[in-house]
Amino acid sequence: MNKALRKAVIAGNWKMNKTPAETTALINEMKPLVADAGCDVVLCTPFVDLQAALEATAGSNIGVGAENCHFEKSGAFTGEVAAPMLTEMGVQYVIIGHSERRQYFGETDETVNKRTLAALENGLTAIVCVGETLTQREQGVTAELVAMQTKIALLNVTAEQLKKVIIAYEPVWAIGTGRTATAEQAGEVCALIRATVASLYGKEAADGLTIQYGGSMNAGNAEELLAQPDVDGGLIGGASLKAPDFAAIVKAASK
Ligand code: 13P
Repeated sequence: MNKALRKAVIAGNWKMNKTPAETTALINEMKPLVADAGCDVVLCTPFVDLQAALEATAGSNIGVGAENCHFEKSGAFTGEVAAPMLTEMGVQYVIIGHSERRQYFGETDETVNKRTLAALENGLTAIVCVGETLTQREQGVTAELVAMQTKIALLNVTAEQLKKVIIAYEPVWAIGTGRTATAEQAGEVCALIRATVASLYGKEAADGLTIQYGGSMNAGNAEELLAQPDVDGGLIGGASLKAPDFAAIVKAASK
Protein backbone atom coordinates (compact mmCIF):
# COMPACT_ATOMS: atom_id res chain seq x y z
CA MET A 1 0.00 0.00 0.00
CA ASN A 2 1.50 3.35 -0.97
CA LYS A 3 -0.11 5.90 1.30
CA ALA A 4 2.12 8.64 -0.03
CA LEU A 5 0.32 8.36 -3.36
CA ARG A 6 -3.18 7.30 -2.40
CA LYS A 7 -5.68 6.85 0.38
CA ALA A 8 -6.07 3.58 2.20
CA VAL A 9 -9.78 2.85 2.44
CA ILE A 10 -11.38 0.11 4.50
CA ALA A 11 -15.06 -0.27 3.63
CA GLY A 12 -17.61 -2.62 5.10
CA ASN A 13 -20.26 -4.11 2.85
CA TRP A 14 -23.05 -5.22 5.12
CA LYS A 15 -24.97 -6.83 2.21
CA MET A 16 -28.53 -7.76 3.31
CA ASN A 17 -27.84 -7.68 7.03
CA LYS A 18 -28.93 -5.51 9.98
CA THR A 19 -32.13 -3.60 10.69
CA PRO A 20 -32.04 0.15 11.42
CA ALA A 21 -31.94 -0.48 15.18
CA GLU A 22 -29.15 -3.03 14.76
CA THR A 23 -27.30 -0.52 12.55
CA THR A 24 -27.31 2.08 15.32
CA ALA A 25 -26.09 -0.46 17.86
CA LEU A 26 -23.28 -1.85 15.68
CA ILE A 27 -22.02 1.60 14.67
CA ASN A 28 -22.04 2.77 18.27
CA GLU A 29 -19.93 -0.26 19.12
CA MET A 30 -17.54 0.40 16.21
CA LYS A 31 -17.06 4.14 16.61
CA PRO A 32 -14.62 4.13 19.55
CA LEU A 33 -12.72 1.18 18.09
CA VAL A 34 -11.91 2.97 14.82
CA ALA A 35 -11.73 6.55 16.10
CA ASP A 36 -7.95 6.78 15.67
CA ALA A 37 -7.85 5.12 12.24
CA GLY A 38 -5.00 6.07 9.95
CA CYS A 39 -7.10 5.21 6.91
CA ASP A 40 -10.54 6.14 5.58
CA VAL A 41 -13.33 4.07 7.12
CA VAL A 42 -16.62 3.49 5.31
CA LEU A 43 -19.70 1.43 6.06
CA CYS A 44 -22.04 0.50 3.21
CA THR A 45 -25.45 -0.54 4.43
CA PRO A 46 -28.84 -1.55 3.05
CA PHE A 47 -30.89 1.44 1.86
CA VAL A 48 -33.30 1.33 4.80
CA ASP A 49 -30.39 1.54 7.25
CA LEU A 50 -28.74 4.58 5.70
CA GLN A 51 -30.57 7.17 7.80
CA ALA A 52 -29.69 5.35 11.01
CA ALA A 53 -26.08 4.99 9.81
CA LEU A 54 -25.81 8.69 8.98
CA GLU A 55 -27.18 9.65 12.39
CA ALA A 56 -24.96 7.20 14.27
CA THR A 57 -21.80 8.24 12.39
CA ALA A 58 -22.42 12.02 12.58
CA GLY A 59 -19.31 13.76 13.86
CA SER A 60 -17.22 10.58 13.60
CA ASN A 61 -14.55 9.49 11.11
CA ILE A 62 -16.85 6.88 9.52
CA GLY A 63 -18.27 7.58 6.06
CA VAL A 64 -21.53 6.04 4.90
CA GLY A 65 -22.24 4.30 1.62
CA ALA A 66 -25.07 2.53 -0.17
CA GLU A 67 -24.71 -0.86 -1.84
CA ASN A 68 -26.12 0.11 -5.23
CA CYS A 69 -27.79 2.96 -7.11
CA HIS A 70 -29.81 3.17 -10.30
CA PHE A 71 -28.55 4.98 -13.38
CA GLU A 72 -31.62 7.13 -14.02
CA LYS A 73 -32.40 10.20 -11.91
CA SER A 74 -36.02 9.16 -11.41
CA GLY A 75 -38.75 7.25 -13.19
CA ALA A 76 -40.64 3.99 -13.44
CA PHE A 77 -38.06 1.65 -11.90
CA THR A 78 -39.95 -0.06 -9.10
CA GLY A 79 -37.74 -1.01 -6.21
CA GLU A 80 -34.71 0.99 -7.32
CA VAL A 81 -32.99 3.95 -5.65
CA ALA A 82 -31.48 6.85 -7.62
CA ALA A 83 -28.11 8.48 -6.97
CA PRO A 84 -29.54 11.99 -6.24
CA MET A 85 -31.68 10.46 -3.49
CA LEU A 86 -28.53 9.17 -1.82
CA THR A 87 -26.64 12.43 -2.22
CA GLU A 88 -29.48 14.43 -0.70
CA MET A 89 -29.42 12.19 2.36
CA GLY A 90 -25.72 12.85 2.90
CA VAL A 91 -24.50 9.47 1.68
CA GLN A 92 -20.95 9.78 0.27
CA TYR A 93 -20.15 6.37 -1.22
CA VAL A 94 -21.89 3.71 -3.25
CA ILE A 95 -20.83 0.20 -4.20
CA ILE A 96 -21.39 -0.47 -7.91
CA GLY A 97 -21.37 -3.79 -9.74
CA HIS A 98 -20.83 -6.12 -6.81
CA SER A 99 -20.61 -9.70 -8.07
CA GLU A 100 -23.80 -10.55 -6.17
CA ARG A 101 -25.60 -7.85 -8.19
CA ARG A 102 -24.07 -9.25 -11.39
CA GLN A 103 -24.91 -12.85 -10.44
CA TYR A 104 -28.41 -12.52 -8.96
CA PHE A 105 -29.79 -9.26 -10.38
CA GLY A 106 -28.65 -9.23 -13.97
CA GLU A 107 -26.05 -6.46 -13.73
CA THR A 108 -23.85 -6.33 -16.79
CA ASP A 109 -20.67 -4.41 -17.54
CA GLU A 110 -22.89 -1.90 -19.37
CA THR A 111 -25.24 -1.28 -16.43
CA VAL A 112 -22.24 -1.10 -14.12
CA ASN A 113 -20.84 1.64 -16.36
CA LYS A 114 -24.16 3.52 -16.37
CA ARG A 115 -24.51 3.26 -12.60
CA THR A 116 -20.90 4.38 -12.12
CA LEU A 117 -21.53 7.46 -14.26
CA ALA A 118 -24.74 8.27 -12.35
CA ALA A 119 -22.94 7.94 -9.02
CA LEU A 120 -20.10 10.21 -10.14
CA GLU A 121 -22.40 12.79 -11.73
CA ASN A 122 -24.11 13.07 -8.37
CA GLY A 123 -20.94 13.55 -6.39
CA LEU A 124 -20.78 10.08 -4.85
CA THR A 125 -17.56 8.11 -4.58
CA ALA A 126 -18.12 4.93 -6.58
CA ILE A 127 -16.63 1.69 -5.27
CA VAL A 128 -16.64 -0.29 -8.51
CA CYS A 129 -16.31 -4.05 -8.13
CA VAL A 130 -14.55 -6.34 -10.59
CA GLY A 131 -13.41 -9.93 -10.32
CA GLU A 132 -13.38 -13.36 -11.91
CA THR A 133 -15.27 -16.54 -11.07
CA LEU A 134 -13.43 -19.75 -10.22
CA THR A 135 -14.15 -21.14 -13.71
CA GLN A 136 -12.71 -18.02 -15.32
CA ARG A 137 -9.58 -18.25 -13.14
CA GLU A 138 -9.18 -21.89 -14.11
CA GLN A 139 -9.66 -21.00 -17.78
CA GLY A 140 -6.75 -18.57 -17.46
CA VAL A 141 -8.77 -15.50 -18.44
CA THR A 142 -8.56 -13.53 -15.18
CA ALA A 143 -6.31 -10.81 -16.58
CA GLU A 144 -8.38 -10.27 -19.73
CA LEU A 145 -11.67 -10.38 -17.85
CA VAL A 146 -10.70 -7.99 -15.07
CA ALA A 147 -9.15 -5.57 -17.59
CA MET A 148 -12.36 -5.70 -19.66
CA GLN A 149 -14.61 -5.15 -16.63
CA THR A 150 -12.44 -2.21 -15.55
CA LYS A 151 -12.38 -0.63 -19.01
CA ILE A 152 -16.13 -0.91 -19.56
CA ALA A 153 -16.97 0.32 -16.04
CA LEU A 154 -14.90 3.45 -16.70
CA LEU A 155 -16.23 4.27 -20.20
CA ASN A 156 -16.88 8.05 -20.40
CA VAL A 157 -15.58 8.60 -16.86
CA THR A 158 -13.44 11.75 -17.01
CA ALA A 159 -9.99 12.06 -15.46
CA GLU A 160 -11.49 14.46 -12.92
CA GLN A 161 -14.25 11.99 -12.04
CA LEU A 162 -11.71 9.18 -11.69
CA LYS A 163 -10.53 10.88 -8.49
CA LYS A 164 -13.81 9.73 -6.94
CA VAL A 165 -13.50 6.13 -8.10
CA ILE A 166 -12.29 3.25 -5.98
CA ILE A 167 -11.90 -0.11 -7.66
CA ALA A 168 -12.48 -3.21 -5.57
CA TYR A 169 -10.95 -6.44 -6.83
CA GLU A 170 -13.17 -9.20 -5.53
CA PRO A 171 -12.50 -12.67 -6.90
CA VAL A 172 -15.95 -14.26 -6.83
CA TRP A 173 -14.55 -17.56 -5.56
CA ALA A 174 -13.19 -15.83 -2.46
CA ILE A 175 -16.40 -14.08 -1.43
CA GLY A 176 -18.05 -15.53 1.65
CA THR A 177 -16.21 -18.80 1.14
CA GLY A 178 -13.45 -18.37 3.68
CA ARG A 179 -11.12 -18.99 0.76
CA THR A 180 -8.98 -15.88 0.45
CA ALA A 181 -6.84 -15.07 -2.55
CA THR A 182 -3.20 -15.31 -1.59
CA ALA A 183 -1.54 -11.98 -1.06
CA GLU A 184 0.38 -12.57 -4.30
CA GLN A 185 -2.80 -13.32 -6.28
CA ALA A 186 -4.50 -10.21 -4.88
CA GLY A 187 -1.44 -8.06 -5.50
CA GLU A 188 -1.03 -9.34 -9.04
CA VAL A 189 -4.59 -8.54 -10.13
CA CYS A 190 -4.63 -5.18 -8.34
CA ALA A 191 -1.41 -4.28 -10.20
CA LEU A 192 -3.07 -5.32 -13.44
CA ILE A 193 -6.07 -3.09 -12.69
CA ARG A 194 -3.70 -0.19 -12.07
CA ALA A 195 -1.90 -0.86 -15.35
CA THR A 196 -5.26 -0.93 -17.15
CA VAL A 197 -6.20 2.42 -15.62
CA ALA A 198 -2.75 3.79 -16.54
CA SER A 199 -3.34 2.80 -20.17
CA LEU A 200 -6.56 4.85 -20.11
CA TYR A 201 -5.69 7.86 -17.93
CA GLY A 202 -1.90 7.89 -17.62
CA LYS A 203 0.46 6.77 -14.87
CA GLU A 204 -0.09 9.67 -12.49
CA ALA A 205 -3.86 9.17 -12.39
CA ALA A 206 -3.41 5.41 -11.96
CA ASP A 207 -0.91 5.94 -9.14
CA GLY A 208 -3.52 8.00 -7.31
CA LEU A 209 -6.27 5.38 -7.62
CA THR A 210 -7.27 3.45 -4.52
CA ILE A 211 -7.67 -0.26 -5.27
CA GLN A 212 -9.20 -2.52 -2.66
CA TYR A 213 -9.13 -6.26 -2.26
CA GLY A 214 -12.32 -8.01 -1.15
CA GLY A 215 -13.07 -11.67 -0.46
CA SER A 216 -12.84 -13.24 2.99
CA MET A 217 -10.56 -10.49 4.26
CA ASN A 218 -10.43 -10.77 8.03
CA ALA A 219 -8.49 -9.75 11.10
CA GLY A 220 -6.02 -12.60 10.54
CA ASN A 221 -5.11 -12.06 6.88
CA ALA A 222 -5.62 -8.29 6.41
CA GLU A 223 -2.07 -7.26 7.19
CA GLU A 224 -0.50 -9.59 4.64
CA LEU A 225 -2.98 -8.62 1.91
CA LEU A 226 -2.56 -4.90 2.63
CA ALA A 227 1.23 -5.25 2.50
CA GLN A 228 0.97 -5.78 -1.25
CA PRO A 229 2.06 -2.56 -2.96
CA ASP A 230 -1.05 -2.29 -5.14
CA VAL A 231 -3.61 -3.27 -2.48
CA ASP A 232 -4.74 0.01 -0.91
CA GLY A 233 -7.57 -1.19 1.25
CA GLY A 234 -10.33 -3.71 1.62
CA LEU A 235 -13.99 -4.24 0.92
CA ILE A 236 -15.11 -6.37 3.81
CA GLY A 237 -18.25 -8.49 3.97
CA GLY A 238 -18.68 -10.90 6.87
CA ALA A 239 -15.98 -9.39 9.08
CA SER A 240 -17.59 -5.94 8.83
CA LEU A 241 -20.57 -7.21 10.81
CA LYS A 242 -18.44 -7.71 13.93
CA ALA A 243 -17.03 -4.56 15.49
CA PRO A 244 -13.77 -6.04 16.87
CA ASP A 245 -12.97 -7.84 13.59
CA PHE A 246 -13.66 -4.79 11.48
CA ALA A 247 -11.62 -2.62 13.84
CA ALA A 248 -8.69 -5.03 13.60
CA ILE A 249 -8.71 -4.69 9.79
CA VAL A 250 -8.85 -0.90 10.11
CA LYS A 251 -5.88 -1.12 12.45
CA ALA A 252 -3.94 -3.25 9.96
CA ALA A 253 -4.58 -0.63 7.25
CA SER A 254 -3.51 2.19 9.56
CA LYS A 255 0.06 0.98 9.98
P1 13P B 1 -16.68 -11.53 2.50
O1 13P B 1 -15.71 -10.63 3.21
O2 13P B 1 -17.84 -11.96 3.38
O3 13P B 1 -16.04 -12.64 1.78
O4 13P B 1 -17.38 -10.61 1.39
C1 13P B 1 -16.58 -9.88 0.54
C2 13P B 1 -17.46 -8.98 -0.24
O5 13P B 1 -18.22 -9.42 -1.07
C3 13P B 1 -17.40 -7.55 0.05
O6 13P B 1 -18.07 -6.81 -0.91
